Amino acid sequence: MKISVVGTGYVGLVTGVTLSEIGHQVICLDVDTLKIKMLRNGQSPIYEPGLEDLLRKNINDGNIWFTSSSTQAFADSEVIFIAVGTPANHDGTANLFYLEQAVIEIAKNIKKRQIIVTKSTVPVGTNQYIKKLIEKYTTVEFDIVSNPEFLREGSAIYDMFHGDRIVIGSELDEAAAIIGQLYKPLKIPIYKTDIRSAEMIKYASNAFLATKISFINEIANLCDKVGANVEAVSYGMGLDQRIGNQFLQAGIGYGGSCFPKDTKALVQLAGNVKHEFELLKAVIDVNNKQQMLLVEKVKKRITSLLHKNIAVLGLSFKPNTDDMREAASLVIIEELVKQGATVIAYDPVAIDEAKKYLPTEVVYAKSIETAIIDADVVLILTEWEEIKSFNLHQYKALMKKAVIFDGRNCYSLPEAERAGVEYYSVGRPLVMKQTIDEASLSPIYSDKKDTTAS
Ligand code: UDX
Repeated sequence: MKISVVGTGYVGLVTGVTLSEIGHQVICLDVDTLKIKMLRNGQSPIYEPGLEDLLRKNINDGNIWFTSSSTQAFADSEVIFIAVGTPANHDGTANLFYLEQAVIEIAKNIKKRQIIVTKSTVPVGTNQYIKKLIEKYTTVEFDIVSNPEFLREGSAIYDMFHGDRIVIGSELDEAAAIIGQLYKPLKIPIYKTDIRSAEMIKYASNAFLATKISFINEIANLCDKVGANVEAVSYGMGLDQRIGNQFLQAGIGYGGSCFPKDTKALVQLAGNVKHEFELLKAVIDVNNKQQMLLVEKVKKRITSLLHKNIAVLGLSFKPNTDDMREAASLVIIEELVKQGATVIAYDPVAIDEAKKYLPTEVVYAKSIETAIIDADVVLILTEWEEIKSFNLHQYKALMKKAVIFDGRNCYSLPEAERAGVEYYSVGRPLVMKQTIDEASLSPIYSDKKDTTAS
């Protein structure tokens, strides 16, 4: 099939490249000419495992092209995917500016009947609005389909090929059938429904996953207080198939380009129809608090952060991406700097991106070793494989006193005990084998000290 994709951001690019890989002829459009130039040269503007290889392969095979010209992009296609960003406005509502621009461009340029598929996450009712907007600019017949994406950054290519479902919302069975056919080589179950329900499935799914995370984080905070271990609790809960074992990893809260934006947008959407979405408001609230909790723990441990060297390991909102949007590291580091600490940050991939967001005072290290060598305290904020597999004994060897605050529960408690480090994690008992000999350092959870040290 001949396919156009509008927007070469994370969703558009992954979609375009994957569709070209499964045998379609794909042309991707973006107003950013610099990006188009990079892509034509086989360079991906985003870090996403496997993406660049697939991109190069399909450019070489003549399956995918890139352009900044709308005329060229829509001239020949049968299906047009809209995959532009819908960032959050200040009030949490979805900003539809880029979407409207894309829709107007499509409307002005289509010459024959085409199916217009919305991949961007849009509030319920937006596809109907898109339809009306197109009708203002053209008399050419067209069909509208809602086809939300469920890709996770860092494993987007894997998800494209192994997704749990493809949701197709359409008024017309014929249009839904064509889009279903287009995805057939992926062999992923397809669920066809009406447009509004498809739009809602995306928001409801993200809101539910965010709810799971905030729930387990609250359980973790309770575990901290009652001396239970959230890892054991998650495992035990996950054995119940009605609950499932995914998205029960306690930590420093969710970030990224989707959960924070989509949960706020759903609260706003509910508000518009006079529905107070109390549960989701609480989920957002818990998440905001969770991000700061690690700093609170550090502050309890070290009386003052002033002039303390704090090594931060991991900056991106999750591993395998350089995406810094809504990363927990942003609020945490901002607070550390505000309190007068010197932050030495390390991330395997996201440093260039992080520099655009973080305070200028932050110092960047080229390796974990150089980040921790003079550190008073280490904070682990992203569970990159390199960070998880870093030998705990190294902390002991390189730091004056190995005090680690792990916001992602990267190490097992016996490992930490064996290494003899002072190890604070989320919702799990403190490990503290070494003797506290600094007057300025006061251990938190001192009541649990005896039960956790081996
Ligand atoms: C999410 C959805 O998973 C995806 O379906 C949707 O299309 C886009 O939003 P993404 O934001 O890329 O994907 O990453 P995801 O793996 O879902 O993680 C989101 C955040 O939740 C990360 O900050 C992650 O660290 C956090 N998280 C996830 C937890 O804290 N605990 C968990 O158990 C899972």
